[in-house]
Amino acid sequence: MMAEVYNRLFSPFTLGRQTVKNRIAMAPLTRQMADADGTPTDEMAAYYARRARGGLGLVITEGTYEDDRLGCRAYLSQPGIVTAQHVKGWKKVSDAVHAHDCKIIMQLMHGGRVSDPRVLGGQAPVSASATQSPGWTLYTDNDYEKQIRNIEGPWPKVTFGQARALTAEEIHTVADGIAEGAARAVEAGFDGVEIHGANGYLLWQFINPKTNHRTDEFGGSPENNVRIARLVAEKVRKAIGEDKILTLRLSQDGVDDFVGAWPDGVKYAAAVGAALKDSGYDALHWASFNYLDNRDPNSDTPMSTVIRKASGLPMITNGGIADGAGAEAALESGAADMVAIGRPIFAHPDWAYIVRSGQAYDWCAFDRKYVVRPPLDYAHAYPLGLVDPKWSPTW
Ligand SMILES: Cc1cc2nc3c(=O)[nH]c(=O)nc-3n(C[C@H](O)[C@H](O)[C@H](O)COP(=O)(O)O)c2cc1C
Repeated sequence: MMAEVYNRLFSPFTLGRQTVKNRIAMAPLTRQMADADGTPTDEMAAYYARRARGGLGLVITEGTYEDDRLGCRAYLSQPGIVTAQHVKGWKKVSDAVHAHDCKIIMQLMHGGRVSDPRVLGGQAPVSASATQSPGWTLYTDNDYEKQIRNIEGPWPKVTFGQARALTAEEIHTVADGIAEGAARAVEAGFDGVEIHGANGYLLWQFINPKTNHRTDEFGGSPENNVRIARLVAEKVRKAIGEDKILTLRLSQDGVDDFVGAWPDGVKYAAAVGAALKDSGYDALHWASFNYLDNRDPNSDTPMSTVIRKASGLPMITNGGIADGAGAEAALESGAADMVAIGRPIFAHPDWAYIVRSGQAYDWCAFDRKYVVRPPLDYAHAYPLGLVDPKWSPTW
């Protein structure tokens, strides 16, 4: 009844030179729980450790800013990896996660044109090209959320300033900043880093032809569009050495473009994958809200399958995977070597454990209330009815 269920999911996987105990990663999820100066809090250590305790092979942290230069920081209360205080705070997180035999990598990000104007201090945001994000409407969901947030009238719209294009020299500075942040993540006890090239932030703005109109070596073709990601890999690898994990997250979606599709669909995905061959990343990570929906009217092949094949790199696949059967199917179909689970692990810290138990379980729906901070439904989040004899909570 136990581990023979979902054999692939619960088999170890080698990411670069490190082995994770199973194929389940916690997807990066921004919580804005850091102190105002970006220092990770004890609450964050407890939050991540609680989920590591639930049986994950790998935790990928929320997007973290690595630099005080060039408008890197994206959010208020976003954690940073810039100062000695940040390193100290993150060390508590990595220790707490490691105590549960779980690896942890830090997601490093640059906000680019969608950095919160309140953290930019009057500076223009930077991007691949001089574009302006259309902005987004916060939390478009339901009345219940409005009620708990005391919002009357329409949901507030988040707007961003006109971005200026980075110079080639500044692109090198950004990549250096990421490499320096990666070295500090290792100092904080992390097993590696993930570079955020997805979801509308700076590297996505380079990779996506809709926001990259450059005519130099950093734009104009799939190879040029991913050049910044290759440059980052090169510098980060030098900074952290061969033994640490290095992944790159990719997506079509952006926070300001939720139904985003790459021009040319799977054709562009294949070119991006090919351009990332031998890039030094140990794995790529496909982000979406439903990995089966590639948004290409001419093909049914999931983007993660296409990119995995074209790049020859292992793939961590994310988006809409809700249960063990869904995860196993992603692995079996060639769409994934590992899966990353986001909202379900907000909602069910014991997600991996529940799946491994093989017992029928009444999963709660993906609900926005698990996306924001509590209230959590504790009956769902802490399923005390399922007790593993080998289960010995320490938190
Ligand atoms: C509240 C929230 C915060 C998120 N923060 C991040 C983030 O920091 N970095 C990132 O790459 N993706 C982030 N994502 C995207 C998730 O990692 C994931 O792609 C998305 O939730 C879909 O996966 P799921 O269906 O397993 O939830 C976030 C998503 C949500 C809902």
